Amino acid sequence: MKFFIDTADIAEIQDLATTGMVDGVTTNPSLVAKSGRDFKQVVAEICEIVPGPVSAEVTATDADAMIAEGLKLCEIAPNVTVKVPLTWDGLKACRALSDDGRMVNVTLCFSANQALLAAKAGASFISPFIGRLDDINLDGLELITEIREIYDNYDFDTEILAASIRTVNHVSECAKIGADVATAPPSIIRKLIEHPLTDKGLEAFLADWEKTGQKIL
Ligand code: E4P
Repeated sequence: MKFFIDTADIAEIQDLATTGMVDGVTTNPSLVAKSGRDFKQVVAEICEIVPGPVSAEVTATDADAMIAEGLKLCEIAPNVTVKVPLTWDGLKACRALSDDGRMVNVTLCFSANQALLAAKAGASFISPFIGRLDDINLDGLELITEIREIYDNYDFDTEILAASIRTVNHVSECAKIGADVATAPPSIIRKLIEHPLTDKGLEAFLADWEKTGQKIL
């Protein structure tokens, strides 16, 4: 399973990239607004840090303008992935951009039928939003299961990019279901390693080692 980081915070990306766990980055207009920085500049900086796909979202709402914005964003770096919303115009833009050899991430997916349409439009990634479905008492993980089944039925190449991840359990459940990618905020990625028995075990090993009086180097 690939890990993308869901942020436009350069310092966080730089720090997490050193773990070797970062396969890509996703941004959205809200995350860019939160960074308070110039969108294209931030995307350029992220693309220099992370060689994998970096999603940059268009803000136009009609297909032609989305295509123009997408091509402009692709000029920033070869690893830019154009993010388009799951609308008919977004799907038209997805088809045109993907026919032109660009990576496209279709975002704001909340149903299996929407995911089917995105795959038929040639999307490189589909982004089902787990947390936002859970927020309205629906089952985000169930959607990932449904999409996995549909994509496997037809051998679609579109990768399932589980998004709107709010808990570490979302990550492990997505891995069990077979999502291709999980994009999560830095705080969740950092929590994945935590276990109290690891901390306790290491403390005991180090205390016992200290008693031996030995050194390895
Ligand atoms: C994905 O690409 C989105 O940026 C993101 O996962 C949305 O998450 P949220 O629902 O926590 O805002």
